[in-house]
This record gives sequence, structure tokens and C-alpha cells, in this order.
Amino acid sequence: MSTDFVPAREDRFSFGIWTVGWQGVDVFGGAVRPPMPAERAVYKLAEIGAYGVNFHDNDVFASDATPADRDERIAAFRKALDQTGLVVTTATTNLFGHPMFKDGAFTANEREVRRFALAKVMANLDLAAELGARTYIFWGGREGAESGAAKDVRTALDRYAEGLDLLCGYVRERGYDIRFAIEPKPNEPRGDILLPTVGHALAFINRLTHGEMVGVNPEVGHEEMAGLNYAHGIAQALWHGKLFHIDLNGQHGPRYDQDLRFGAGNARGAFWLVDTLEAGGYDGPVHFDYKPPRTEDDDGVWASAAACMRNYLILRDKVRAFRADPEVAEALRASRVAELAEPTLAPGETWRDVREPAADTDALARRGMGYERLDQLALEYLYGVRP
Ligand code: GCO
Ligand code: MN
Ligand code: MN
Repeated sequence: MSTDFVPAREDRFSFGIWTVGWQGVDVFGGAVRPPMPAERAVYKLAEIGAYGVNFHDNDVFASDATPADRDERIAAFRKALDQTGLVVTTATTNLFGHPMFKDGAFTANEREVRRFALAKVMANLDLAAELGARTYIFWGGREGAESGAAKDVRTALDRYAEGLDLLCGYVRERGYDIRFAIEPKPNEPRGDILLPTVGHALAFINRLTHGEMVGVNPEVGHEEMAGLNYAHGIAQALWHGKLFHIDLNGQHGPRYDQDLRFGAGNARGAFWLVDTLEAGGYDGPVHFDYKPPRTEDDDGVWASAAACMRNYLILRDKVRAFRADPEVAEALRASRVAELAEPTLAPGETWRDVREPAADTDALARRGMGYERLDQLALEYLYGVRP
């Protein structure tokens, strides 16, 4: 087992500019850290071994920036990218911070807000394409409601689809090499957010005109806030060919969105999520979307960012060792795990071949599955007593 856990370029670790740049403003208190210009985040992330970044338009320039300010801020960001070689993997739009988005962006009742939101996204898509981003995220934090009569959900979904269809059309007409990824979240900041889970988002994508351009960006905390199993969520997204991006962080069960550093919170869930990614099928960046707690100063910010990558590498080592262990292979055989890959009907068989029950039901009932032994092996890797 390696003990250095030093991030390498090929690990493709990326961070949102807004993660390390979070000033700690929450509903009960103001900023605890000074603003961090986007270029500083880039230099420091490069220093600690990250490969890429993801940004909202307003992580780089303020929403009320003059054209000259905007150009100056983008130039500084671009210079930092050039100097460090950090890749812009992903971009997104801030459609939640400005008070005008209090009732949503694509699904705001007020049409003028919706039209403005589309313009804001298109402007940042131009910048995203220029900077080489291949994935564009939609986190609809304000798309939702606190009360029943305020939002006609079916009509809101019409407008959500209308907005995404229009933006797919924009990307196609401009010839950008960009795919979209919807990031589900059940609540916070809205009482209830539309497209609350991976499953809701996948079903919604099926109704889009260019659904092939749209996938999902599941976040650990968001699925776990809903009491769901993140590893199962990304496995299903992979099964649909829709895992376009991932937001990794930590969460302790169903409560507010904790956005802990990756590996903190539900460590067992983190083990199985790394195992799921290691099984293959996802080729995007390993992206962290977390918030350094308000207790941390600048040193604490970088310690927590470095820890996200380190925890991933530690878990990856453990997962690989688990999968390579002959005792695990034996336990998997005893649990008949591989048998699931065998189709229930043999080639050429039809329902006629299984219409008459033919099993020794008593023998099947008596036979244990051996999952406890199998899971204990995994836990012992996680607890650090194996190998
Ligand atoms: C959250 C979200 C956000 C989004 C990001 C992209 O914590 O609720 O993860 O951080 O991912 O803002 O728009
Ligand atoms: Mn979150
Ligand atoms: Mn996120």
C-alpha cells in the first residue's frame, strides 16, 4: 500500500473556485475569511496538486461588474490558468445569488427573470467554450418553492425543459463542444427544489429535445440529504450513460447541506463510491464541491482542500487492495455475486421455459448469502486493520 498519497495530474482532481473561495457567509453569520480572487484559487490549487477547476461566472467577476472590470478579472483568471497549466474542466452560472433569482431562474414565475437567466447562461457559455470547458453544470438551487400554491410544478417543468432545450440549441448552433449536467438537490436554499434526486433528473432528461446532450452531476451530500445511497445513484447514472460529472464531498446523514471535505462524514459511503468509480465507466474529472468550515483560516482552507484529494487516494488504495484480496474473491464467490451477470433466461428461452416453478424452495430458503463476511472484509480495510 502506498503511503505518500500525492495527487498527480492523471488523477484529474478538480475544484470549484467557489469552494476554497467560500467566505463562510451562512444564514446565521457573515464572512469569516476575506474574498479570494479567482486567480489566487488557481495558483494555490495548482500548488497543492489539483488538475482542474470549475467556475461560476460570478466567481470570476461580480454580477454588477462593468465590461472593463469583467475583462480585467477574466484576464487575471486566464493568466493564472496559463501559468499553472490548470484545466478548466467545467463551468456553471450563478443563478441563485442575486436577489432577482429569489423565485428561481428558468422556473421563476416572472417571465422577465427567465429571459434574463437565459441571457446570463449564454454569456457564460461563450466564456466557458473559450476557456475549454467541456461540461456545463445546472444546479437549480432556487428552482423550487416553500409553499404549495406558489408554484405550478408541471408548468415549472415545462419552463425548465424550455430553458434547457433553448440552451442545447445555442450550444449546437455555436458549435461548442459542451455537454450539460443537471445537479440534483432536494432542498436548500428552497424549501423544496425541483429535480430533487438523480432519479428525478434522469426522468426529466428523457423529455428534452436534445436529451443526448444532457446528463447528471450528482453530489454526495445532496443524495445523502435525501437519505439515498450515492454509490447506487452514480451506478444508475452510469447504467443510463448519463454520469457526465461528479461533485464529491462529505455529509452526515439527512440534515442541512454540510458540504464537508471529501472523506469526512459518511466514510463507508465514500468507500463504496470510490469502488463504484474504480469499476469504470466514468471518465470526467474527480471534482470536489465542498465548503471549508467557518472555523478555518486560510491555512485551514488549503489543508481541507488537500485532504479531499488525499482522502480520495487513501480510499482508492483501500478499494484496490480489497478487490485484489484473494479472501475477498473467495467471499464474492461464496455470495454468488458474479452469478447476477448471467441473464435469467438462457439464449433462445422464453417465458414458457420458466412458467412452471422448478426450484427447491426449501434449499434456497436455507442457504445464506454470506454478505456479512463480505462486508466485514470491506470494513476491515476501511478501519485500517487489513491487509
Ligand atoms: C450546493 C451546490 C452548489 C453547486 C454549485 C454549482 O452546495 O448546494 O453543490 O455548490 O454545485 O453552486 O452551481
Ligand atoms: Mn452541496
Ligand atoms: Mn455541487
